[in-house]
Amino acid sequence: MSFKTIIEPFRIKTVEPIYISNASERAAYLKQAKYNTFKLKADQVIIDLLTDSGTSAMSAKQWAGIMEGDEAYAGSNSWQKMERVIRDLTGFDHILPTHQGRAAERILYGTIGGAGKVFISNTHFDTTRANIEYSGAEAIDIPVPEASNPAVPHPFKGNMDTEKLKKLLQVHGSDNIGAVILTVTNNSGGGQPVSMKNAQQVSEICKDAGVLFILDCCRIAENAWFIKDREDAWKDATYEDIAKHMFRLADGAVMSAKKDALVNMGGFLVLKDEKLALECTNLLIITEGYTTYGGLSGRDMEALAIGLKEVFRPDYLKYRIRSTAYLGNKLTELGIPVMQPIGGHAVYVDAKALYPHIPAHEYPGQTLACRLYELGGVRAVEIGSVMFGKYDENGKLIPAPLELVRLAIPRRVYTQSHIEYVIEVFEKILEEKDNTKGFKITYEPPFLRHFTAHFEPL
Ligand code: F0G
Repeated sequence: MSFKTIIEPFRIKTVEPIYISNASERAAYLKQAKYNTFKLKADQVIIDLLTDSGTSAMSAKQWAGIMEGDEAYAGSNSWQKMERVIRDLTGFDHILPTHQGRAAERILYGTIGGAGKVFISNTHFDTTRANIEYSGAEAIDIPVPEASNPAVPHPFKGNMDTEKLKKLLQVHGSDNIGAVILTVTNNSGGGQPVSMKNAQQVSEICKDAGVLFILDCCRIAENAWFIKDREDAWKDATYEDIAKHMFRLADGAVMSAKKDALVNMGGFLVLKDEKLALECTNLLIITEGYTTYGGLSGRDMEALAIGLKEVFRPDYLKYRIRSTAYLGNKLTELGIPVMQPIGGHAVYVDAKALYPHIPAHEYPGQTLACRLYELGGVRAVEIGSVMFGKYDENGKLIPAPLELVRLAIPRRVYTQSHIEYVIEVFEKILEEKDNTKGFKITYEPPFLRHFTAHFEPL
């Protein structure tokens, strides 16, 4: 017997009240925040879809684990537990704990990067690219061509273009390649999955060329769900076995545990090669902490060890992926242009298609993010020309290729009625869309302007 309603596979023991603001309060808050959703205070937000990172609700088991956290400086029980779980999942011998994903990136890419080195990825996440470029190296994205068209469905839009990969390896020469990085799922490409076949091909190409193959695995459980669902060869495997197999294809991995390990803080770096691991360990001790805690407290490690097992439960993953798709599909039915197919952790709205009358230099994505907040207190983030736009020598905006708004869903936090509410806010967005006006920037810093820029409505 099967039911069409997919319920949250948990019940709620502790609640956090949400302040339900009214429209005039929100108009004032947004003005105070200079129309930048990053500058809103969290308690001014009704539904916070800014990120799925570090925003998960922990289980009763994880909270119980917190009490068991062993805070010994060296060799704590919690570290032993975390190390066991990570070794069993990834199969790697060398496990380095870090306080979050970008710390693992800094340590690894700071060690193998540097001027003259080239890194190749399906898409480097912002912090990945920043750490590589900060080392002096170059970062090149080669997603499959289907990834650039938001309206075209494809089962594995997160895949890397393997023909381009072979060419780039030839052009640059293996000795100059820092690493090939496969991000699963591909966050910057819309949370789209990578197939096992693609990972296998990338692995073989890297082995043949003798270059390092690294997984950015922060959403590997969500990626495993898509593989089991869409790749026939894996339909009878468990989600955990799918993830294990993918790890076995790589030479190492970096993880932001703030996503699929269901914790609020944490990360790690795992490596096959002993020499590289030793070099990274030096940097770990200098910048993060001793080898058995990195930047983490014992209680963090305890919660991480438990979360990394919980995330692979079939009922959890089904609820997770299907509830994200529920929001995406309902918005599509309403007539909101949404990136297809729906990814694992977020729904990406195509603001350029929603507001065709708002040109890139009036920031359609920022406009949508502001209207979502003002109409319903929903916080989202622009991923378009505010985040990635550049200026030419005459000061004219070079727009980003896409004007997207990301609705990222925190894990185990919101119920279906919260999501129904978000859908209703979009109904209001549609009602007013032809009269919606864009924004101009009134202040911007030289780097990463989306975090602190000021805007004014036109
Ligand atoms: N890699 C990917 C694919 C990510 O999505 C993130 C973070 C990181 C690395 C860095 O990890 O934040 O723990 O240092 N993504 C968050 C987001 C910030 O909102 O998508 P971190």
